[in-house]
Amino acid sequence: MSEHEEEKQVIVNEVQGQGESVFVCTANRDFAAYAQEELRRLFGSVKSSVLSDREVLLVKLNTTEEEAVRQIVDSRPIFLRHIQPVHFEREGENAGELLAEAASFVLGSGKLGAGVKVALQVRKSADADSDSSSQLKEWLEELLRSSEAEFVAAGADWIVSIYLTGSALYAGISRPENNLSDWSGGAVRFRREEGQLSRAKFKLLEAEREFGLDFSAYRSAVDIGAAPGGWTSLLLERGLRVTAVDPAKLHPSLLKLPNLTYIRKNAGEIKFRDNEFDLLVCDMSWSPKLMVQLVTGLLHALSPGGTAIITIKLMHKKPMALIKEVIASFEDSRLQVQRAKQLFHNREEITLYMIKY
Ligand SMILES: C[S@@+](CC[C@H](N)C(=O)[O-])C[C@H]1O[C@@H](n2cnc3c(N)ncnc32)[C@H](O)[C@@H]1O
Repeated sequence: MSEHEEEKQVIVNEVQGQGESVFVCTANRDFAAYAQEELRRLFGSVKSSVLSDREVLLVKLNTTEEEAVRQIVDSRPIFLRHIQPVHFEREGENAGELLAEAASFVLGSGKLGAGVKVALQVRKSADADSDSSSQLKEWLEELLRSSEAEFVAAGADWIVSIYLTGSALYAGISRPENNLSDWSGGAVRFRREEGQLSRAKFKLLEAEREFGLDFSAYRSAVDIGAAPGGWTSLLLERGLRVTAVDPAKLHPSLLKLPNLTYIRKNAGEIKFRDNEFDLLVCDMSWSPKLMVQLVTGLLHALSPGGTAIITIKLMHKKPMALIKEVIASFEDSRLQVQRAKQLFHNREEITLYMIKY
């Protein structure tokens, strides 16, 4: 072991005892308790403290980092959106000093070097009395310049993650695939387009990316609860024929598009032919029980092998039980769940990706 590596090992061992690991874990606002519950189901006892109210936790596990990451990534959590390991931790209030110490730790790790692609991801809690995250990131880049690494936003070999609070800094270095998301804190950002019909469009864009789908490979979609038309517009842009169903008004800009059929009705009142569609999407924002009834009544119109993307509104205080119930009902109706995920753009809901068999 080189002197640098020995020094790094000492620091890592200060934070992570033998056979232990420490992570900053992030969920959507108000859902950290469910992310914590997912960790508890995986690891039994989980020691955690809150870094930012209801969304960011510092979690200590009695498992090595490698094993913890393997188990978390394999379990495909619904609510746990992002993890970043903690290899370096310093208490203090002076952001500048803390960042300089973290930078020397990162330089000492020996991971950064000429030609190595590195993404710097800096976040802070509301109580951190310091410059903005983007200013801190610029500063960190300056401090790490001597490494000759190439600083990138995407496609990194390593991610250097920093989380700053009012009283401490937590830093870690990890492979992008080990963080659950390669976006800082799992916050997937899309640029808002001019004339974009709804924020809801981001949910379907994120689902496409998160679930590794390519909507342009589909032929014909039905969008249940389509108004004002964000999801419909995305599917039309991808070149699909789209049947949009909603008693509410679709945005007038869509109505003239040749690949759109608009049925201005309650989805419970309509009839489709068997196997008419190879994609069914539904973002009804409705009672999950009624949504399941309505969607299963229309499933004959989805061809075998077809895909369904559906948001489930989390109505009451027991989302885990609700999700289990909804998944069981869909599985009884020949929909096989591929993924269930609270996307960054989901609010009080999660998104299901299913395939009909
Ligand atoms: C959250 S909005 C959908 C937003 C849409 N995904 C977008 O990107 O613009 C929910 C829509 O579901 C519609 N909806 C609710 N119940 C419905 C039903 N039974 N049949 C059809 N549409 C319904 C509502 O009228 C509302 O327009």
